Amino acid sequence: MFSRHLVCSVTLLGLAAAYPASSTTLADDGFPDPNAQQLLSIEQQADGLLSNLPPPPSLSQAGITNFQLIAFNENLEVRFFEEIISNITNHVPGFESKTSRYSEAALLEILKTVKAQEELHALTAITTLEHFNAPLVPEPCIYNFPSTTLEEALNLAETLTAVVLGTLQDAEQSFAQNGDDGPVRAVSSVIGQEGEQNGFYRLILNRKPSEKPFLTTNVAEFAFSALQQFVVSCPFDITQIPIPIFPALNVLTTAQPRDMYLSFSADLTGNSQINQGSDFAGLFVTYLVGQQLPISEPIVNPKFDGSVLTFDALFPFTENIMSGLSIAALTNSSNFANADAIVANTLAAPGLIQVNDVLPLNSKAGNWSQSA
Ligand SMILES: *[C@@H]1O[C@H](CO)[C@@H](O)[C@H](O)[C@H]1NC(C)=O
Ligand SMILES: *[C@@H]1O[C@H](CO)[C@@H](O)[C@H](O)[C@H]1NC(C)=O
Ligand SMILES: *[C@@H]1O[C@H](CO)[C@@H](O)[C@H](O)[C@H]1NC(C)=O
Repeated sequence: MFSRHLVCSVTLLGLAAAYPASSTTLADDGFPDPNAQQLLSIEQQADGLLSNLPPPPSLSQAGITNFQLIAFNENLEVRFFEEIISNITNHVPGFESKTSRYSEAALLEILKTVKAQEELHALTAITTLEHFNAPLVPEPCIYNFPSTTLEEALNLAETLTAVVLGTLQDAEQSFAQNGDDGPVRAVSSVIGQEGEQNGFYRLILNRKPSEKPFLTTNVAEFAFSALQQFVVSCPFDITQIPIPIFPALNVLTTAQPRDMYLSFSADLTGNSQINQGSDFAGLFVTYLVGQQLPISEPIVNPKFDGSVLTFDALFPFTENIMSGLSIAALTNSSNFANADAIVANTLAAPGLIQVNDVLPLNSKAGNWSQSA
């Protein structure tokens, strides 16, 4: 029995637990410093070559920051997919494929190709930063991922990729605003590529492959903040990437495809705007979804213990058709003109909320999402 409207909600923030951290040793393919032969192997596995177009003549400071975030994110994705591949290959309990839609060999081949493609995305950002003598070229960090089953890992892959698909919109906007037309074509080609990946993750999770007519936008600051939960330590000072890091906005309720109140929490230790005497009347949860203007809902039931603020806010699903990814921020104003305008008034972010229909299955196929 399945319901037509089964729902999967991911609360990414605050899930990090104590797993042995993956090491920063080089992968056997040489990434992030492959020699010529290793690079060719990566390209063969990725089904295509690195771009051989000459670099753009110039890149703005904002453009450098965009590529620092892209490199930081792609390094993480490389390690994430490497770990999933290793877990499947080494028969780590929970990483058996429960779907009969793909053989284990096919799934491994798909994921190895994704990993190689992510490596080429990362190398493109890294060589761009090196070419323009960026003050910091992010190297791979040590990460800790919360997923302990293949289904959880693919759910996380889908959410991370959806966040990236929103963040690359912000990068393109920034390139346009700063006269950086050089990277636009290549970054657009990556947006399509990540969209192909997400269609696959969604399909294997029994969701419709195409998420929304206009994918949910995001801003660099929220993406960088979201990635911190997976980072154990980096071989460089993370604050050298000039993007603010917000406290996490934890989503404590599983969102469903209806109007409902969600509970949130945020650790606001050190925020001088908030104290025991605050009345919290001026605070909102502001949602990004699709290409809608930011949607702000006043918070209700605020409780502050001196560091952690817990509260509820409406999740206005129906009017806004909030299927797929919504990105929430705790803000001290409302009526924002666009996504970028939210950042200056954010106290905590992001909260990542997913609501997805689950498709009826052919009875011969696996049933991951129903059993989740
Ligand atoms: C899902 O699979 C499990 C084990 O294979 C089975 O027991 C269960 O009935 C299936 N659920 C649905 C909704 O098909
Ligand atoms: C790989 O398996 C280990 C052990 O269950 C788990 O801690 C880790 O998060 C898994 N990695 C990924 C990316 O799912
Ligand atoms: C709103 O938050 C921003 C960012 O923390 C802060 O700079 C600003 O002073 C706050 N405004 C009010 C009215 O509290």
